[in-house]
Amino acid sequence: MSEHPLVGIVMGSKSDYEVLLPAIEILRELQIPHEARVLSAHRTPDQLFEYVDAARGRGLKVMIAGAGGAAHLAGVIAAKTLMPVLAVPIAATSLNGLDSLLSMVQMPKGIPVATLAIGKPGAGNAALFAAEILALNDAALYDRLVAWRAARAREVLEAKLPD
Ligand code: RP5
Repeated sequence: MSEHPLVGIVMGSKSDYEVLLPAIEILRELQIPHEARVLSAHRTPDQLFEYVDAARGRGLKVMIAGAGGAAHLAGVIAAKTLMPVLAVPIAATSLNGLDSLLSMVQMPKGIPVATLAIGKPGAGNAALFAAEILALNDAALYDRLVAWRAARAREVLEAKLPD
């Protein structure tokens, strides 16, 4: 996207990309400038800090963090910024995402992380939540969100079942 990004998506590994794709697709559909980065809280902590430190100055407003396992990514980002951090737990181990869900949702009081559902539904909802935050100050985006939701309702009402 050419406009400066408003939403930063950070994933702990390239292997998380496919799960986070619904977030990217919804941000595209709602015409919200965004960017995605692979940065890990434990593999590249210095580069993650650099990215988060610069984010607000670069115009970012909301962060989405997706990670699996002992997923400290969202909490570490939240520790370094006052931007809203939306967390997407990813099923990457034999615990099927419950490990990352609990890691993200159980942030100690004082450093909030808003945690969505495990996997692709959570990724899509993270993008919609980011859109709702941005729509507080963007009437045109609010209208696009209204239209997006109306289209989902139409899909349900027009659903055809097999004879
Ligand atoms: C986490 O470990 C990542 O977020 C990913 O979900 C998981 C596995 O990473 P890879 O071993 O596939 O790089 O840090």
